[in-house]
Amino acid sequence: MPQEFDDYAGRYEELLQDPIREAFAPGSKFFADRKWKLIQDFFARQKRPLSSLRWLDVGCGKGELLRMGKGVFGKVAGCDLSQEMMVSGGDLDICLQPDPDRLPFADGSFDFLTAVCVFHHVEPGTRLALVNEMKRVLAPGGILGIFEHNPLNPTTRLIVSRTPVDQNAILLRAGETEDLMRKASLQAVETEFFLYLPEKVYNRMPWMEAALKSVPLGGQYATFGRNNTGDSNQHGG
Ligand SMILES: C[S@@+](CC[C@H](N)C(=O)[O-])C[C@H]1O[C@@H](n2cnc3c(N)ncnc32)[C@H](O)[C@@H]1O
Repeated sequence: MPQEFDDYAGRYEELLQDPIREAFAPGSKFFADRKWKLIQDFFARQKRPLSSLRWLDVGCGKGELLRMGKGVFGKVAGCDLSQEMMVSGGDLDICLQPDPDRLPFADGSFDFLTAVCVFHHVEPGTRLALVNEMKRVLAPGGILGIFEHNPLNPTTRLIVSRTPVDQNAILLRAGETEDLMRKASLQAVETEFFLYLPEKVYNRMPWMEAALKSVPLGGQYATFGRNNTGDSNQHGG
């Protein structure tokens, strides 16, 4: 069945272009780099080597973020509803996900699941079902990471409101994402806000973003929760 993002895939980068976004950081690399650093820092704090972890990125799109983890994580894989979004991901282990609420993977088969800018495209009434499904695929002790636009940031709201691929987007606040995780019985739920500083400023003073990570005004946020079900070795959050 054709999916919404099949229509966008051929012109995806062009459709994301916005003068404010371009002034903040040209292209998409900086946005992916920041998420990749956040993931690395999160697991470093947990003292869990990435080489021991299997990562599944749900709604992986073109696989830009996933590609950064290839050769660093023990295994990386992705899935997406849109076949067209994944056409440039031939070097990655990615597959079509035929059903929005069902991941084509066995129970407990990954240690880290992400959904990056996916949930604002998921109808609010079905979001919890998707979080529960992601939890099913998480191994005991595994981590779910949801990365989202922050609706409390006015610039984010402005850019989203005029970006064609986001015409059906319904943004979710970090508190809503945390609630979804708690309802799915994920634990040690924590949120980090990021993308306060444009690329050029960030490169000069990355410490400033670290200092602001609890202030809920960054352009995006990442919420992490842990699957303690069946885990006899419960690490801290
Ligand atoms: C804005 S794009 C983000 C792609 C990629 N994660 C990134 O950050 O570049 C949203 C993607 O989520 C996918 N998607 C939307 N709902 C989904 C669902 N229920 N399960 C899996 N993928 C979904 C879309 O097909 C699309 O490729």
